[in-house]
Parts: sequence; structure tokens; C-alpha cells
Amino acid sequence: MPPLPGTSATAPFASTPTEADPYLYQVGFGNQFASEAIPGTLPRACNTPQRCKYDLVSEQLNGTPFVSPRASLLHAWFYRIRPSVVHKKLKSLPKNPDIEANFSPSNEKVTFTPHDLGWDAFSIPKPSDSIDFIQGWKTISGHGDPASKEGLAVHIYTANSSMTNKSFCNNDGDLLIIPQEGRLDIQTEFGRIMVRSGELLVIQAGMRFTVGLPDGTARGYIQEIFGSHYELPELGPVGSNGMAMPRDFETPVADFDIDQSKWQVVVKLMGNLFVYEQDHTPFDVVAWHGNYAPYKYAMEKFINTATVDRDQSDPSIYCVLTAKSKRSGVALSEFLVFTPKWSVTRNTFRPPYYHRNVATEIMGMTYGTWSGSATSLHPGSLTYEPSYMPHGESFERWKEATSMDLKPQRIGEGAMAFMMHISSHVSLTEYALERSEKLQHQPDEFWNDFKGGFMDHLDEVNADLENAGRSGLQVEHRQ
Ligand SMILES: [Fe+2]
Repeated sequence: MPPLPGTSATAPFASTPTEADPYLYQVGFGNQFASEAIPGTLPRACNTPQRCKYDLVSEQLNGTPFVSPRASLLHAWFYRIRPSVVHKKLKSLPKNPDIEANFSPSNEKVTFTPHDLGWDAFSIPKPSDSIDFIQGWKTISGHGDPASKEGLAVHIYTANSSMTNKSFCNNDGDLLIIPQEGRLDIQTEFGRIMVRSGELLVIQAGMRFTVGLPDGTARGYIQEIFGSHYELPELGPVGSNGMAMPRDFETPVADFDIDQSKWQVVVKLMGNLFVYEQDHTPFDVVAWHGNYAPYKYAMEKFINTATVDRDQSDPSIYCVLTAKSKRSGVALSEFLVFTPKWSVTRNTFRPPYYHRNVATEIMGMTYGTWSGSATSLHPGSLTYEPSYMPHGESFERWKEATSMDLKPQRIGEGAMAFMMHISSHVSLTEYALERSEKLQHQPDEFWNDFKGGFMDHLDEVNADLENAGRSGLQVEHRQ
């Protein structure tokens, strides 16, 4: 039989727009992406032709030094209507006391504390106050600083107003944005991104973007990293599949406006804000290519991997993204997500075991009900477990977990929580400790009702010791 003609794809694979997210995305993590809003505007086999098509201007943006190992090189080329240098005088803006960038012990405005802390859901601005994404940004904690390009910051945002003819450029570091309430309709120099609760968004340092609020209000979390970039974690014995899969990351396609109205560009450097004006939109990139580009990821797509017979895995198996610190082999931060999964292990204490970690744990919740018993975590709230301080489930939960009949069970249904696993000690800001009005003090005595059962077994213990040829325990007052 002669071969029959099949068919060919007519375009590379891309996402499918929906009513909730009308934009198109390229898929993959760290690809060398290429996109042109007008066909033929990306130069072929050249980045800086003498004259670009339609007199577009070439401009490079990089996220790593020119001389970097090829595996870590990050940069992008824009082909835009005007170069970014076309703007008016740069001016300082008044200091926003709620934005912090210096987490050093020498900064009197931050505090290191070993207390477990939590915050109730942060308030959305009142309708009478018009607060946009940048104005509603408040720093909770962090370590290091952007000048040394080592460290990170944790922020929350609440907003009720779209940014209008105003864009933002963070020169301090990359932003990992986790919406909790309300979609963010984000225009970037690379194209448009819609992100919702359950998705994360990474916008790297030096990229200009503006945030619209299609649902009217918004609340969420931000992790900002200094001098590093997010990567997918190594898979080790997990193999080549599982966890966050590269194909599930989505990067925008080129999209530009012809807009010659007045725009502001707000720049953040060392936590201070500056602004310049220009007589045209910053979003005039007709084509671009490169691997330094923003992306989003729907965390419901995370492939959970865990033990299926007995014992527990460490929570690092829930790592979506990580970022290297300058200490070899130590992550600056691991971003973990807790999504619904089956728990099928036997002879195992199922909730998280009691532990004291070198890492600081900062948790938030995007939606649903938290199943843990020791912290008051709910959508829009935050908890803080400092390095080496002991924590785990309540005594009631421990009793239940150590005596329950273990069967396969579905856990975390309808819920999504996340954890920032931070390798360094972090300090807390004045906003977090004094001005947020949402601070919870986790009671130090929370576990003091824990009754150790060992003394109830003294007769058995002594019998075992005597059988082993050893003396029994000399305990006069049994409890
Ligand atoms: Fe923990």
C-alpha cells in the first residue's frame, strides 16, 4: 500500500486563550524564545543589523554578566519603536516607609526574632483609597540586600486600583509574584500575561511592567531575590519527569502599543523609588528573542512525588522553583507548593513530623482550608517559623495521627498553600511587627499539653531491660 499523506503542524505549540485569560503564551522553561508581533521584524542571523526593519531599534537586556557560563547566560533582544533611553529627567520619589531593602542587623528598622509569628489576611484597601500594585506593596521580612546581590525579601501586596499610564521597573532583583485574590493583568515589554490565584509569575530584574486589576481588587505575596535567578530544582533520582515540568511554564508573545500619551516609569533601587516620565508607552516592543523573559506557571500542574509504602519524604519534594545563593550547594530559597494529593503510606506518622530546621519557613495560602493544626494559616495570611525553633502538629493531632487506621486518603483537596524555605536568618520589618495590625502571636505554650506516654510503659521497659541482662530503671514516682 503506498504511503498516505498525513498532515503537518501549522505553528509551534502554544497555549489556548480562554475567557479568564485571553492571552497567548509560548511554553517551556528557560528556552531561547522568539516572537514577533509583525512578521519579519526579528532580524535573521543577526542581533544588531545596521538598520532594523521598519526602523525599529535594537536593544539588549541581560540578567547575567556578559562573561558567564553558557548554561547560566540570560539575556534578551528587543526590537522596539524607541529605545528605552528616550525619557525625561529621573527624580526621587518620597520614601515609602513600608518598603524595606536592607535586612542587616545594623539596620535599626528590622528585627531578628526567634518567636513563631503569623499574620491574619492583610486588608484590601478601602474603596475610598485608590491604591495600585506598587503603592500597596509592603515588606514583611528578608535577609541580605540588593547592593551585595545576595539575599531576598518577602512582601505582600494589596490593591484596588489599576496602574494607569504608569509602569514599574525593579532594579533590585527578580520578583516571584503569587496572587491570592484577584487576577493581575500584566503588560510587560515581552507581551501580556494574565495571572490568577493558583498561578505564580516571575518578572526578572530590569523589566518594565504595569499591573491592571480586572477583578477590581487584588491581594497576594511576593518573593524578591537579589543577585540570583529562579531555576527548576535538580531532579536527582526522581529522573527526567515529575515535579514542575518545563513545558508547563508559559512566556508571553510579543505585543506592542502605539501610544504617545504621557507615561511614568517608577524605578526601585535599594528599596527607594524614583520616577521618570516619557511621552510614549514603554510597551512598544514589536519583536523580541532570548531567554531572559517573564513566565507564569499554574501550580495545580505540579506533579507530586512522595513515598508510597512507608515513612515520609522531606518537603523538598514539593519544590517548584529554587534560586542559588553564593554558598556552593545552598539554595537562597526553595519555593514549595502544597497541592491536593493521595496519601497512601502505611506504618507512618502522616502529618509533618516534629522538626527543627536550619531554614526559616514562611508560609502563605492562596485558596482553600489549611489542614495543619499548629498555625493559623488561611488565604491571604502568612506564618513565620524561624530557624531552629521547634514546631509540628498539636498534641490532639498527634494522638489522632498515631492511633488512626491508615488507609489511602485524599488530602489537601480544594486547597493550595506554599512555603518559602529560606536558608539564612531573616529579619522582620517595622510594618510586619508594628503597623500591619494583623500580627498574631503564636502562643509559646501551644504544645505544653503534650503528655509523653513513656512513663506508662515502665513495667514493659524494665522487663525488656531485664531480659537483656540489664538493671531496670529506678523511678520512684510514676506519673
Ligand atoms: Fe516546618
